[in-house]
This record gives sequence, structure tokens and C-alpha cells, in this order.
Amino acid sequence: MSVAIADPKVRRIIADFPILQRPTSRGKRLVYLDSAATSQKPQVVIDALVNYYSQYNANIHRGVYEIAERATAEFEKARETVASFFNAQTQEIIWTRNTTESINLVSYSWGLQNVGRGDAILVTQLEHHSNLVPWQVLAEKTGAELRFIPVDDRGLHVLDDLDALLDSCKLVALSHVSNSLGTIAPLDIIIPRAHAAGALVMVDGAQAAPNMPVDLKALDADFYAFSAHKMCGPTGIGVLYGKRALLEGMPPFLTGGDMIRKVEYTKSTFNELPWKFEAGTSNVADAIAFAVAVDYLRGIGMEWVRDHEHRLVTYALERLATLESRGLAIYGPRDPARIADVISFNFGDVHPHDLASILDTDGVCVRAGHHCTMPLMEKMGWPATARASFYIYNTEEDIDALVTGIEKAARVFKL
Ligand code: ALA
Repeated sequence: MSVAIADPKVRRIIADFPILQRPTSRGKRLVYLDSAATSQKPQVVIDALVNYYSQYNANIHRGVYEIAERATAEFEKARETVASFFNAQTQEIIWTRNTTESINLVSYSWGLQNVGRGDAILVTQLEHHSNLVPWQVLAEKTGAELRFIPVDDRGLHVLDDLDALLDSCKLVALSHVSNSLGTIAPLDIIIPRAHAAGALVMVDGAQAAPNMPVDLKALDADFYAFSAHKMCGPTGIGVLYGKRALLEGMPPFLTGGDMIRKVEYTKSTFNELPWKFEAGTSNVADAIAFAVAVDYLRGIGMEWVRDHEHRLVTYALERLATLESRGLAIYGPRDPARIADVISFNFGDVHPHDLASILDTDGVCVRAGHHCTMPLMEKMGWPATARASFYIYNTEEDIDALVTGIEKAARVFKL
């Protein structure tokens, strides 16, 4: 079941993940190539959850007894850990449930106050539904125009008409990395151009934060959203980063307990940042465990993560290219420097769900479907794709297993 992994660092990383130590129900090695959907969790993160619930579970910002004070301290320390990892101020890190909620927060809180008829919101043709639907709703509510930065047949941004697209634009909302094609957005070009045109920039960082170093101060985006579960952390906890001055000026998104300073029967005043945006009991355990995941990634080094995935993407493109003559279509950029962690493909007229099911019989997990990017699939003329995505615990051997699985599918479907 096990394979010899040459790189000792990757061997040590794999040993940290209990799910990668156990066979599948068919007795196969688990070849997990779906980390863009959610990453696996190292033992330290699982331990942090168990430790919180078994040692100091209590509500935060309320109790004056020992375990409540410890829970509050660990929760706020987790925020500091995440802030320093991404080079942000602590008050600029708002806990949310996930990237989707973070984007909705901006759309409702900032968008409804600042966007109106005659304004434009600019997104790209690559966006995940979570960075498209909230802007469709905002455009409908306000009468603003929704515009699109086009992408070419390889899913690369086409910036020829950027100046015209930015005219009257209030907000550019785009993914740092495409979850369907892995394309890395040219933020170094788009963010300064958007700012020069007077627009703010909201970045969906769900697929970038886990895979590459992200320095929020250097990036200069106005808002940046990401989820813990794609970067070794638990599900149900995400982050909205916003520049402090912007967050200060925004009204709360959700209201109720914890986000208030004073409540009278007919009016209330709101808490300061970051708690103004955190109504109700927070996801204490998962925030604390997320900080452990962030420390784990810090220990590995995000430069190493990017280099490792670059090696894997390069190798995967080479290996998959050998199947092109037999009908494998590889989508997205072909230059590994333009891709983060994802490769999408189809094999002949085999439905990607059937391909994914055959791969599963050998323990190889890939995602199949529209990947929450239905407009992109329609534009490209693909009903769906199979998608392999790579992370810190993947190896060249995993890619070999993917290729062997596709060859098996070719035999089954007589391609
Ligand atoms: N957005 C996640 C993905 O791309 C779920 O798979």
C-alpha cells in the first residue's frame, strides 16, 4: 500500500496526516488530489480541537472564570497569529464562517452604502459562484452595472480593455487563483490600475492563501477573503481582511450579541473592530485550531509550498500531456508559472463523474463537475471537467497513480 517517497520533508509531512496513513475501503493507498475542495488536517490541528473541547471549552468575552478567560485569550491570540502570518493588523482580521460569508459581508455592508446607479462592479469570467452571485445581487439591488474582465481559451486574463472596464467602476472583485483552472491572477497589474481609476479591490483568496505566500500589506488589496479548511484548518471558519479605515466606516453586517457596546430598548451602539462584525457566539474551537494550522504552515514555509506545488504541476502537465494523443484534453494555462495548484481535464467523451468514479476504485480522489463556475464552463463549452489539485502532502507518485487510473479508464471505455 505504501510507496517510497524520496523527499524526506514530504515524508515527514505525510506522516503528520492521520487520514493518509489508513487504506481506503478497497485496501488502496489514499491518493488525495482534491485539496482545492478541502485540505486534509494534520494531527496537531485535530489535537487542538480535542484539547479545546476537553480542557477549556467555554464561551468567550463573557465569563470571568479561568477556562472562559483561557478560551478568550486563545481565541484572540489566534487572530494575532493569522494577522501576523498575512502581514495585517489584528483589528483587520474578521472571523467569518468561510470565504463566501466574507464576500457577502463586503457586498452587503460596504456595497449597499457605496455602490449605486451609474456605478460599475468589475469581476472576471473565472469567478467561483461565491465571488459572482453576491455582486449580481448587489448590482440588482443598486442598479449598478456588472462587467467582466475576459479570459482567453487558456483561462488567462485579457487586460486589453481594462481602462474602459474601470471607467465608473467602484469595485473590482476577483479571485487570486481560479479554483477551476488554477490561473494566478495578475494582481500586480490589476490592483494599482483599479486604485488609479478610483475603484476598491476585493480579492477572493480561497485558492491562493493555502498555496503561496500572501503579504496583505504588500498586495494592497482593500479586502481579501479566505477559508481555513483549504489550508489545513477546520471547516466553518474563514477570514475577511479589510483595510482598517474601510472597516471602521462600514456598518455591521449581522447584529445581535457581542458586536455591541451599549443596547437600549430603542437603539444601540456598536463594538469596535474587529468585534463589530462578529455577532453572536463565535466559532471558538475552529479559530483556535486554525491558528495551529497557520503555525504548521509557517513551519513548513509558504515559499516551499509554492515551489513544491510548482514542481508537482510541472510534472503533472508533462505526464498528462502523454495522454493527449489518446484524447485527454487539458484545460487552463500550460505554463506552470501561471498555475497554482489545479489542473482540469476531460478524457474523450467520458463524463468526468465516470472518470472520477473509476479513479476512486484505485483510491485516487479528484473532483468532477462545474466546480461552482457554471458561467466559465458554459463560455468554454465544457459541460464539466475532472480536476486534480495538489497540496503539501502530494508527490510525483500520486500523479503517477492519477495517470495509471486514467489509462485504466481508457481501457474500460475502450478509448
Ligand atoms: N470551492 C471549492 C472547490 O473549488 C469547494 O472545490
